[in-house]
Amino acid sequence: MAFVTEDNITEIAVQRWATSHSPRMAELMTAAIKHLHAFAKEVDLTGEEWMGALEFLTATGQASDEKRKEFILLSDVLGLSMLVVMRNARQPKGATPTTVLGPFHIEDSPELGHGESMTFGAEGEPCFVTGQVRDLRGRPIAGARLDVWQADTAGDYEAQIPGQEGPRLRAIYTTGADGRYCVRTVNPRGYAIPMDGPVGALIGKTEISYFRPAHIHFLLSAPGQADLISCIFRSGAEYLDSDVVFGCKQDLITDFTRHASGLAPTGEAMAQPFWTVEFDFVLSPQA
Ligand code: BEZ
Ligand code: FE
Repeated sequence: MAFVTEDNITEIAVQRWATSHSPRMAELMTAAIKHLHAFAKEVDLTGEEWMGALEFLTATGQASDEKRKEFILLSDVLGLSMLVVMRNARQPKGATPTTVLGPFHIEDSPELGHGESMTFGAEGEPCFVTGQVRDLRGRPIAGARLDVWQADTAGDYEAQIPGQEGPRLRAIYTTGADGRYCVRTVNPRGYAIPMDGPVGALIGKTEISYFRPAHIHFLLSAPGQADLISCIFRSGAEYLDSDVVFGCKQDLITDFTRHASGLAPTGEAMAQPFWTVEFDFVLSPQA
């Protein structure tokens, strides 16, 4: 009978978890055990420190619900979400890069027509985002769906607004026969990630900048094409080079042009200042 010692405990734990019914689960669990044990040894983890970590993880779970996804936030600020995104989306040259989904995407947004407004009452300078969705061979994709969401000018997403009823700053658009789309929203601003939970408290103990640069989220889908989780970032915005979730990529930075007044891309005459952005998305074929 083999009793557990400091020297053999890792091997014994690995052997136990290697019995996982699924080979992939066995691979994941045994690797996780090896790395966790190595971590505890490397830093000489104390019981008090480990209990503190467990309390932090418990609080992270307790802070999470249908709308608030604190574990996603944790994964994002550790750089793990973006690492997984980049390793899994080995996109062909020419395809639009992917980035983090973030914790604020809400399913089943309302479907809007070309140029209809997704603000649902949110204030801000109007912003029209137009462009074409194409495949890798440059052919326009008709009927592509663009699920779009963003924060308001105070930096809050719908899920962060207590008592918010109904959608706000999110919608689904569909490309026309020419592959083109037109989103009407408000000019986005940079914002702080939620700092009122356990992840924020952890970041507060560091010098880390907890801001994201101004951006609009997109999740694109089209038959025969791989889904694309992406974002567009405003060129010249603050925090482009210090994005707290490591999500900003050069190819996703684009110009947002301000107009004092004039004709919007929808043909509407605008008496007040508004913004236009032209950004094309290139999808890659489904694996
Ligand atoms: C976001 O862009 O919505 C986001 C992404 C990661 C963490 C927090 C917010
Ligand atoms: Fe965001």
